[in-house]
Amino acid sequence: MEKVIIKKLKGITGQVVVPADKSISHRSVILGAISRGRTEIHNFLESEDCLWTVDVFKRLGVEIETAKLSLIVKGRGLRGLKKAAGALYFGNSGTGLRLTAGVLSGSPFVSILTGDDSLSKRPMKRITMPLRQMGAVIAGKEDADYLPLEVKGRGLRAIDYQSPIASAQVKSSILLAGLYAEGTTTITEPFKSRDHTERMLSRFGADLKVEGLSISLRPGPELAADKVEIPSDISSASFFMVAAAILKNAELCLKGVGVNPTRIGIIEILKAMQADIQVTNISSDSFEPQADIIVKSKGLKPFKIDGNLIPRLIDEIPVLMVAATQADGESIIKDAAELRVKETDRINSMVRGLRKLGASVNVTGNDVIIKGPTVLKGNVVSSFGDHRTAMSMIIAGLAAEGETTVLDTACIKTSFPGFMEVIFKLKR
Ligand code: S3P
Repeated sequence: MEKVIIKKLKGITGQVVVPADKSISHRSVILGAISRGRTEIHNFLESEDCLWTVDVFKRLGVEIETAKLSLIVKGRGLRGLKKAAGALYFGNSGTGLRLTAGVLSGSPFVSILTGDDSLSKRPMKRITMPLRQMGAVIAGKEDADYLPLEVKGRGLRAIDYQSPIASAQVKSSILLAGLYAEGTTTITEPFKSRDHTERMLSRFGADLKVEGLSISLRPGPELAADKVEIPSDISSASFFMVAAAILKNAELCLKGVGVNPTRIGIIEILKAMQADIQVTNISSDSFEPQADIIVKSKGLKPFKIDGNLIPRLIDEIPVLMVAATQADGESIIKDAAELRVKETDRINSMVRGLRKLGASVNVTGNDVIIKGPTVLKGNVVSSFGDHRTAMSMIIAGLAAEGETTVLDTACIKTSFPGFMEVIFKLKR
């Protein structure tokens, strides 16, 4: 089992380009595969999760060429995918699996969808129920709530779906199935979740209308392949934003980070904490805006996260919990039930890890209160097999007295290969 042993850092400085956005990388392969023409993808995230999506679409008959950080996807059009021999394996990736399930619901053959132990424990009814309403025939454990799923694709009918959760994976799965449906598919979410699918679908020529929290898609002509330039992942950048905010002697510049408005909750919260953070060189040339983010050490105030902010920083809550241990007062996280069904239960994994380092953490249901500032003390903690818990606990370890060991860290490769190398490059 891989582990990381770290000591308190005196400080952190420099400029860094973190790896490409994971959400956009998955979508570029999936949409490229079902478009007509060649999709050229620059700055593709070569992490395990995204490489499983590449593997799945190759097995569905799509030619994909890989060069360093670039991919060429030779699209087969909406109806050009072929039945794969054997099961399709998605590794640890909920995004890869849930979005592809939408595409396969409209593809007229049987597919078996599987994943690793963590993905096999994650709920799938959130997509299989609406996809069944659209006409897909889906079987799986506990009435298609758990993997493996057997998806029998066929002609679909449009639905008007009120999603009970703000989930970009659910929204995207339904929209992708909507490409194959008769009629206009509409999905309405309770709060706005990341809109990368909508942006990329529009860019590829889909007939899509966004009105407040509702998105409607009319199946039209084939999607047209296009060039995709992927910015750095704000979720990967967030570990360094928090490191720079909590370490005593720190100044970091994160270059070319994706600042899509549906993803920048972390910046809003760090500003609310009165962190020294600047967003500069904002460029909206591409269909996904990007910017440089500069963060320096400064005393932090506590924060409150709840309601419609949650989907805009859902993956950053673990590292914000680390920031909360260093803020002067009580930070409150409410309405974070979705954290319980990520790669692990991230409320449990973070609360257990932070308590082991001496943090003052209270949990009631899905609400968490963290009282700071605490002088953290090194200890042995686990990632619970979850990449974001692993990286968050490593950042906590950089601020903790003595030595911290984070166990089970191979999972970091699912989203951020080279994470430790970046830390060693930046340490003072
Ligand atoms: C993602 C959406 C989010 C996020 C996940 C990636 C995506 O999940 O947590 O890491 O790429 O669509 P939900 O949409 O299920 O909240």
